[in-house]
Parts: sequence; C-alpha cells; structure tokens
Amino acid sequence: MTNNVPWTVAEIETSPDELRLISELLECKGAASPRDIAGKLAWPEIKVMSVASWCRQKGLVDIKEASATQYSLSDEGKRYAQYGLPERRALSAVLCRTEDKPALSAEEEKIAVMWLRKKGLADIGKDKTTGKIQVLPTDKGREFFDQALHTADEKVLQALNGGQWVAQEALDADGLQMLRGRKGVLKSREETSRSLSLTALGAQYAQGAGRAPDGDAQGQISQITSAHIQDHQKGKLLSFRKYHVESFAPEIYGGGRHPLRELMDEVREVFVQMGFEEIECDYVQPCFWNMDALFIPQDHPARDIQDTFYMKDPAVIPVTDDGLMGKIRATHENGGETGSLGWRSKWTREEAQRVVLRTHTTVNTIRYLSEHPEPPLKVFSVGRIFRNEATDATHLSELHQIEGIVMERGATMGMLIGTLKEFYTRIGFPDVDVNPSYYPYTEPSMDVFVRWKGRILEMGGAGIFRPEVTAPFGVKHQVLAWGLGLERLAMIKAGESDIRNVISNDMRALRKRKMLR
Ligand code: PHE
Repeated sequence: MTNNVPWTVAEIETSPDELRLISELLECKGAASPRDIAGKLAWPEIKVMSVASWCRQKGLVDIKEASATQYSLSDEGKRYAQYGLPERRALSAVLCRTEDKPALSAEEEKIAVMWLRKKGLADIGKDKTTGKIQVLPTDKGREFFDQALHTADEKVLQALNGGQWVAQEALDADGLQMLRGRKGVLKSREETSRSLSLTALGAQYAQGAGRAPDGDAQGQISQITSAHIQDHQKGKLLSFRKYHVESFAPEIYGGGRHPLRELMDEVREVFVQMGFEEIECDYVQPCFWNMDALFIPQDHPARDIQDTFYMKDPAVIPVTDDGLMGKIRATHENGGETGSLGWRSKWTREEAQRVVLRTHTTVNTIRYLSEHPEPPLKVFSVGRIFRNEATDATHLSELHQIEGIVMERGATMGMLIGTLKEFYTRIGFPDVDVNPSYYPYTEPSMDVFVRWKGRILEMGGAGIFRPEVTAPFGVKHQVLAWGLGLERLAMIKAGESDIRNVISNDMRALRKRKMLR
C-alpha cells in the first residue's frame, strides 16, 4: 500500500514505539517479519503490527502481506512418519527383515500393494496354489531397501514429522504431490505472512543523527507526570514531544441522536422555556376528532382517500358521547348554538366514526381542549402525522408537526404572531412573516413564513379557533392555534433542499454530519 506522505524527514514526528520499531528494522537490514520484531522487542505481535501501521501511515514502513499454503500431518500421516509408509513396511516384511513395527492392517496392505506397483518397487502376483497375493520386489525395490534410500514422499513425511506446520515452499514439490495424492495424510491451511520493511524515507529517518531508540531518552517528554509539573514550577526547562495535529488517526464514530430527534428536543425546550406544557395523543383517530370536531366539513376534499389514510382495522371507532355528537352534528348542519349557519349539508355518524391515521396534530389540541375548556392554557405537541401523498423533494407521507394553542382571556392575533415570532427567533430564525390564509377551523387564519438567506419558506398555518370549534366544548375564550412543519425547519437548519434528506437514516451521511455548525 502506498501513501501520499506530505512530510519530509525533518517534519516527521514519531512516538517512542515507532522509533524503536524503525530502529529495529534498520538493524535487521531494513526488513523483518513481525514475529522476529516481536521477539526482539519483547512486544506482542499485535503491537508490532499496530505500531507498524502507524509507521506506514507516515510513509516510513511498508507492510507486505502474502498468503501461503502450509502443510502438516494428519494422524494417519503421523503414523506413516513413525512406522514408514505401508509399501516400505510391506517391502521390509517381504525381504525378511524383522522389524519391531506393528503388522500391516488389511486396509494398509491394500494401500501398500497399490503403491509398490505405482512406484515400481515390486511386482504383485498371486500364489497359484494358495491364491494369496505375492509381493515380488523389483531390482529398484531391492536397491531402494538396501541403501535405505528415501522416496520424495518419505522426505516430506520426515520434514513434517515434528507435527509442525511447514510452508509449501520449504517442502519437496514432488514428494508433496505424491502425498497429496493419498487420501487423508496431509492437512493444509492458508496463512498470511507479513513482512515489514523500511521505505527509503523510513531508512533515512532511522539513520537520522543521534536519534535514540526512545523518545524520552532524547529528553523529550511524551507523557506528563506530576514530577514534570514540579520540575516546571522549579523553573526547569522541559522539552515536549510535539503533537502532529494533522497526523493520521482512524475515524471513530460515537453514537448519536438523529438530527430530527435533536431538533424535536430543541423545539420542546423552547416551548417549555416559553411556559408551555407538552401534550400527546394517539396516531389512530376517528374522523370525529381529526376532522368533525374541527368543523372540517364531511365533504371536504382533504377527507378524500387521496389525502387521508383510512384504517381497515379498526375501520370504526364509535363515538360514545351522544350529547357531544349531537352538538357537532348541529354545528355542521345549521350552526347549532354558535350563531353560525353551519355547512348546511348532511352530517352522518358513519363518516365521523371512520378511522384515520391523524392528518394533523390539531387533533391533539382539540381533544385536550375538550377536557380543559377553562383558561389559561398553553400547551404544545411535537408529533408524527400521516398524509396520503407521494414522496418527493418537498413532500413526505409521514412527517411531524409542531402544534400548540394559547387560550387566554382577551387573546389576540397580535399575541399569536408574537408567540410564533418568539418561537422562531429562539430556534434561530428571527425573520418571521405571516399572510392571510384559510383553514376551516380558524378565523382569521394565516400562513407562517420564515425568511432565510433570501428565500421565503412556508412553515405552516395558524389562526384563532372559530366559535364552531370552541362553542360545542363550552370554551368561552379566544384560542390561538398553530400547526408548523418540523421537517421544513430541519431543512433550513441543515441547509438541505430535499426534504427526504432530513429524515434519512443513511448512516454514512449521518456519521459525516458536523457536530457543531
Ligand atoms: N392543521 C393545519 C395543517 O395541518 C395547521 C393549523 C393548525 C392551522 C392550527 C391553523 C391552526 O396545516
């Protein structure tokens, strides 16, 4: 592996261990195996490799890796090494030399016969009268036996006799091939062997004038102790090993929270600081709460299957409060007691009991308001909502809203705008703007914008709840309400132009995220 090394010898800084390694390599004439170095320095091999890879990063050392096959004997191979190959033993039996070795088993006899023939050491015949196999040594066989010559395979057996692993290169190639042709004699494995060598730069550095193999021996301090501090206080001049702040370091990644989670917490913190309390509610809601209680007409286009996810199971959530149900029906059909004319269209219980994944967190607000109709009230929620939309650079089908209400005697539109301005200022976007808008549940209604880097970004909606929303619950005071996009905020915070990137779980991107911005 080669590195782009920006340093010259004069600029290189080494730790004492790195210096010891390269000095040792210099003594080994520039190259050695990690095992040798480990032996010489009395380091574990793993430390040698770790120090070597730091040196490699600095361009001082090369690490070469080669993978090689090694062989050793199986149990059967060990028996062969000890007592001789079956054919050798058969030959000695035939040639009437008594030997203190176990007789061949029937299986070994077969092997012996096969190899005697293959090696041309004996002819095999059959005794005509007894039908027994006869081994008739050839001249080669006799010579072989008499001169105690070894065939190539026997030489390999001997080389492996100690039970050790031996590299393929160190073994007789023919003998190895012969033994490999026999089943179950050899075991093999792949080993990576490494070698360390000094680069030209490394050699130059290692030869550097008067460098001691130990950083501290140069009078440089690499680890500060209390004694050093005392020396320093006594006015002694100390020399410290320099830090190379741009030196290579492995990247490490700590755990972390998703940026969107972090933003949610930031939003929570701001609202809590502003005196709000957080509320929560379920994702699954009957239309009654998600829409009807908010005076969204039953024929509103947003209720269409295109905009809303309807649940199959449960498909119905019964609304049990008949009194409340009657008030909401009356409000929709003719305004009820609110002074409004209502939508003047038919309202059905079936439609109200259909079940949806909440399409906005305004459902949290209205449910809470229904149980807390008295002022003062300052609550907020940060929660997930669902919209039946195709996902693209500016739309998601699952997103989060920052919702809230303030109910106070004499609350005004000015207070609402002021509250939103305060919120965005605290989050970091002080340039807030509003435009008149329309929502079925607020009057007046407005859209909220943030100006950021010359752009005007729509953040959400807000307004004052209409009497058609508040009256059925006996709420008698102004309720200032808003629902703002969390992902929109995340986008401008991160300088992202694609909303999908702010919800992404791409670990590579998340790891590269700056901790401070
Ligand atoms: N619910 C609206 C939306 O989902 C936002 C809103 C909330 C508007 C409260 C007015 C008041 O966009």
